[in-house]
Amino acid sequence: MTIKLSNWGATWLSCQLPVAGQNREVLLGCKNLEQYAQQKAYLGATIGRYANRIANATIEINGINYSLSANQGTNQLHGGKFGFDKQLWHIQSQSDKQVIFTLISPDGDQGFPGELKVEVTYKLTDDNQVILSFNAITTKTTPVNLTNHAYFNLDGETSKDILNHTLQVNADFYLPVDHSGIPNSDLVSVNQYDMDLRRPKFIAERFLESPIRQITGGYDHAYLLNKSQSIAAKLISADKKVKMNVKTTLPALQIYTGNFLKHTPNRHNGQYNNFAGIALEAQFLPDSPHHPDWPQPSCYLEPQQTYHHQICYQFDIK
Ligand code: BGC
Repeated sequence: MTIKLSNWGATWLSCQLPVAGQNREVLLGCKNLEQYAQQKAYLGATIGRYANRIANATIEINGINYSLSANQGTNQLHGGKFGFDKQLWHIQSQSDKQVIFTLISPDGDQGFPGELKVEVTYKLTDDNQVILSFNAITTKTTPVNLTNHAYFNLDGETSKDILNHTLQVNADFYLPVDHSGIPNSDLVSVNQYDMDLRRPKFIAERFLESPIRQITGGYDHAYLLNKSQSIAAKLISADKKVKMNVKTTLPALQIYTGNFLKHTPNRHNGQYNNFAGIALEAQFLPDSPHHPDWPQPSCYLEPQQTYHHQICYQFDIK
């Protein structure tokens, strides 16, 4: 298998798998850099300083209020107007099997306190794993939540949608959200409103029947991963020829079925439709800075600490 990367947004551009003697592109992507800069879907990008939403784009640390860059109404999504996805990263090292990107996010970047030094490593192994390692250090206490926003279509990115993929997520709890994607409840059991993915399920099954999924036009929810399981999620193509396991050290997985992908430029002078790809984004729970009581490690990084997390996508090809 082959992957392609860019230092624009430390972005994963392409993932080609040898399937039945042919190359199958399983990652959604654009044709050129101009389109990457225009699209609003965060295709394949590294997301930071804080992935997902922070309600009202404000945080309070040790009694000081910080007003963050708001880029989705009054809330912040994926790090603000000029998040890490819109930065030109430095290529620290590059080989056939591994690329290391680094970025210095200055004190006050998008409103966040502290200078954050970030390192993202992409490694491709001989057994078809893409391993992403995220490291960061800060000069002041700041929330950090780094992830990758790759959209997969394991049938190939030109096939219609991912609705006939099979998905399994090892999580007993998820977070309901309001129309703007902000959590409006504590964690609830996946049994509530038919959100259970613990057994493999066709994504299309009762897709828009659950009132919880109607609010977001599909799955767009964070699942709190069961710690006892080494595999966070499994995705299988409709033709069953490609399987992908997701493993991570992060506490939660945002399942996003591409509900707003319409009008995103594709590689072929056209546009993707809604549900053309699925993003499985390992991260802290959304809006965690406002919910220190949730059962996960703190999303705040202290100056004496190092942020270190991994996300692994392992492909099994027939
Ligand atoms: C969010 C979606 C959002 C998308 C932007 C996802 O991580 O969960 O709500 O629309 O990113 O492309």
